[in-house]
Order: sequence, then structure tokens, then C-alpha cells
Amino acid sequence: IPIHALNGPNLNLLGTREPGIYGSATLADIERDLHARAELLSVGLTFRQTNHEGELVELVQAAGASGAGILINAAAYTHTSVALRDAIVGSGAVAVEVHLSNVHAREAFRHVSLIAPVCAGVICGFGPYSYVLGLDALAQRLRGRLP
Ligand code: DQA
Repeated sequence: IPIHALNGPNLNLLGTREPGIYGSATLADIERDLHARAELLSVGLTFRQTNHEGELVELVQAAGASGAGILINAAAYTHTSVALRDAIVGSGAVAVEVHLSNVHAREAFRHVSLIAPVCAGVICGFGPYSYVLGLDALAQRLRGRLP
């Protein structure tokens, strides 16, 4: 099964960006570990990052058009983007939202996700392991093994 892992703004800076919150792993580290997990799960993984909202919308559209599931860390656009939410709905894809940090333990503006209601589920607070958990859950969901 195909899954596209999509990463939003500033996640290219992981490793040096607020390490007290996001840890020291780089996005390349996360990508490598996720590819290893994808291989174990027999999932075809595509991994992308963009700082641009419109490009993230296009990546969601492309995932949907190719019949892929979506694992998404939309970063700050999680809390602001109606366009991204509409793209997820319009794509028809099953999406799982992930975050490195526990957004609910942080500023109030991070407690709201505009995309969570249109995702199958949300995983946050486990650092890079959030991605692995999200990939596992999405693969199970796409295989019809979860409600
Ligand atoms: C984040 C949480 C967001 O609130 C923040 O804007 C990010 C990263 C996370 O992975 O913890 O850029 O999505």
C-alpha cells in the first residue's frame, strides 16, 4: 500500500530548531527510521517536506489522486489552514495527523487543529516515534484492520 508522509513548515530545521521541544533528530533521521518501518510493514513510503501552504495542498491532492494514504505533520498550518483541511477532505484520502510535541501541553493556539476532524486519528507527544506510531496505525487502517 502507498503512503505519503507530508511535512509542513520549519520541519526542515529539525535538529537545530528548539531542541528542548523537538529533540535533536533531523528530518532526515526521521525519514530514515520511517523508511525502515515502512519496509517492515510492506508499505510504499514517499516522504516530503515543504514550507509553502499551497505546495502542501498540492501534495495532499497528489496523494489522493494516486490512491495513497496520508501521514501528515502539517506543523503550524495545523492550527491555521482551512485550505489544507479542505484539501484532505477533497482528496478522499485517509489521513493520520502526527506531531513531535504534545501540542495540548503547549500554548493555547496549538490546542486547536483544523485538520484533526477530517483525519482518521491524531498522534502527538512522542517525538519521532509519533511518526512510526502514525504509520503503523495508518497501515492497519488502510488494510481494514481498524474501525
Ligand atoms: C509541530 C507542532 C506545531 O504546533 C508546530 O507549529 C510545529 C511542529 C510538532 O510536530 O510538534 O511546527 O507540528
